[in-house]
Amino acid sequence: MNRIAKVTRNVVEGAGVDVDHLIGLPVKNAAAEPTTFSSCTILRANLIGLDGETITEVAETARIEDRNHFEALVHRIHELGGRLPGDMVTFHNVSGCPPASLSTGIPVS
Ligand SMILES: [Fe+2]
Repeated sequence: MNRIAKVTRNVVEGAGVDVDHLIGLPVKNAAAEPTTFSSCTILRANLIGLDGETITEVAETARIEDRNHFEALVHRIHELGGRLPGDMVTFHNVSGCPPASLSTGIPVS
């Protein structure tokens, strides 16, 4: 854990917050973002050529938003001295969302 994370953790703990519990929340949230990013990527690929590309821009906007969410969450996790799981399967499985379907991008239920 770097010095900034130690200081941040001490400040948050000093405010009476259970930091380990707190870190688990953005980790679970971050775990869903690669799935939604993948869903939007696959969906976008399936929409190419329809309606003069306008609809693909909607999927692209959502895709970039999910990437930005992921990056912001990972930054915050690291600020608190947390880490992501070591592999994508473990990471995905803490998300609570189904994997993306490769045919349409819509999550499989
Ligand atoms: Fe998101």
